[in-house]
Amino acid sequence: MSANDKAQTMQPRPVSESKSEMAEIVLPNDANPLNALLGGRLMHWIDLAGAMAAHRHSRQYALTAAIDHLDFLVPVHVGDLVILRSSVNRAFNTSMEIGVKVWVENYHLDQHQHVSSAYLTFVAVDAAGNHCHVPPVVPETDDERRRYEDAGRRREIRRAELERRRKLQADL
Ligand SMILES: CC(C)(COP(=O)(O)OP(=O)(O)OC[C@H]1O[C@@H](n2cnc3c(N)ncnc32)[C@H](O)[C@@H]1OP(=O)(O)O)[C@@H](O)C(=O)NCCC(=O)NCCS
Repeated sequence: MSANDKAQTMQPRPVSESKSEMAEIVLPNDANPLNALLGGRLMHWIDLAGAMAAHRHSRQYALTAAIDHLDFLVPVHVGDLVILRSSVNRAFNTSMEIGVKVWVENYHLDQHQHVSSAYLTFVAVDAAGNHCHVPPVVPETDDERRRYEDAGRRREIRRAELERRRKLQADL
């Protein structure tokens, strides 16, 4: 049985089972001297929020294999509330694409703004570190179906880029 066949025989899971939410209040230790949230701290939270969805979908340990391009659209300040929402976009053989969307809430001004969106690839592993097959995803809403289709296209781009980098390294 091929790896792809093996993954397809697992019980599929709806996106809703992986949906996760995390909230953090930005404290001085999370910020630079201008009281703005450090980009690295937000990347750490994005990784954690992504891992939650990956664990929930795969019911396995999950390693971060890659994080795609990240933009920080608006500054976040000490005292702001940061909300991170994550869910699985699509599962392949042993890997999953997880989407994480980040919002900032300023409760004094009663405002919330989109801060960042990220796509992360996680690989499911067992306790010995062996790669594990992951169940397919069932997209149920229009947004989930769009993300599922887009994730397939992004995987092809990632694979081509990885192949290109491996070739470059082999030529060094
Ligand atoms: C990520 C990792 C598990 C991939 O291992 P590998 O043996 O090179 O992987 P393979 O070529 O067998 O691919 C396994 C899966 O990962 C995917 N993958 C591997 N590298 C990837 C990358 N850079 N980006 C996206 N997907 C990737 C493959 O497409 C494949 O997916 P599939 O099984 O769904 O088809 C391995 O490089 C690793 O352990 N990295 C360190 C992870 C880690 O410690 N992360 C924490 C941050 S340091």
